[in-house]
Amino acid sequence: MSSAWQLAERAPLRARNTFGVPAHAGMLVAVRDPASLPALFENAMLRDGPVLVLGGGSNLLFAADPEGVVVTLERQDIRITRDDGDSCTVRADAGVQWHAFVMWTLGHGLAGLENLSLIPGTVGAAPIQNIGAYGVEVGERIDRVEAFDRTTGAIRTLTSGECAFGYRDSRFKQEPDRWIVTAVEFRLSRTPQLRLGYAGIVDELARAGIDSPSPSQVAEAVCRVRQGKLPDPAVLGNAGSFFKNPIVAAELAESLGSQHPGLPVFPGPDAASRKLSAAWLIDACGWKGFRDGDAGVSARHALVLVNHGQASGSQLLALARRIAASVHERFGVALEPEPRIIGERW
Ligand code: EPU
Repeated sequence: MSSAWQLAERAPLRARNTFGVPAHAGMLVAVRDPASLPALFENAMLRDGPVLVLGGGSNLLFAADPEGVVVTLERQDIRITRDDGDSCTVRADAGVQWHAFVMWTLGHGLAGLENLSLIPGTVGAAPIQNIGAYGVEVGERIDRVEAFDRTTGAIRTLTSGECAFGYRDSRFKQEPDRWIVTAVEFRLSRTPQLRLGYAGIVDELARAGIDSPSPSQVAEAVCRVRQGKLPDPAVLGNAGSFFKNPIVAAELAESLGSQHPGLPVFPGPDAASRKLSAAWLIDACGWKGFRDGDAGVSARHALVLVNHGQASGSQLLALARRIAASVHERFGVALEPEPRIIGERW
């Protein structure tokens, strides 16, 4: 036993994943001091075997028990590392809860993360899938990421450019066995540059009678919109959007759009592609509110798979595959899961 980390054998993971499905870790290592990672990973089981880093457990599905060792990062410090009056750099440890961090920044008069309010999970998980909502992706606000590199056994700092952020994507997601994010530095501003283009947020602010909102008012509007649409994982197990919005060739988007005038089509990452609404495609196939045993689709949002209580990860995965197959059959569009699936291939 060390004060820098703590070990537990056959640790239950049900309370550590927001789907609330049962799973166990053969060995769970709770790391209190990330500076101890290089020494910890000299242990052969960690150095050579599979390792799963678990944050809030809000973006994964345990279709089986994870192999090898599960690592959690416990440290939760937040501090301003550079302050030039207008802009600030804020460093947060991986273990900080994401929404608590957003509230901390707003409480310190720092704008930039307000659109990302109420996203479940931790700061350390945020860069992995480049969390995004209401027109902002976290990669735009990240200055640097500190991460333990398993290939060198050392902690390293990556610039935002080195993180290769894309839509729900990053270098950390592309190299899943390599990095353990230990802290993230954000570039935030005291002069708000609000991004209010997303229709739902503008409507919500208008409903509240606010025409020149503060960043905190934007955060409140985002919270209300999310609470209205997305089931609370503390009440009904889920991992947010289960599928990414598919990126397809512009020609396919155009032909689908003319056959189905309601289909929302968004710009893609380049001129030749478009992003379609996975929720709309799934809804059109009749899945919203569907339930098979305790595995189901939210009645509020077609993109959210839910656990009504006793569903297993493999039951939820089976449902996800049925949904994807029906969307493919009807629209010719392949859906891909957003959460990481543990123990099975998509
Ligand atoms: N829609 C339906 N049926 C539904 C729900 C939505 O047809 O049941 C259609 C509506 O036309 C709506 C459109 O889908 O206008 C888009 O819906 P929404 O605004 O809820 O956004 P989304 O594309 O489904 C994405 C993110 C969310 C994020 C919201 C807001 C992905 C995979 N999901 O959802 O992120 O909160 O935009 O920015 O990109 C998450 O990643 O876990 C997540 C919740």
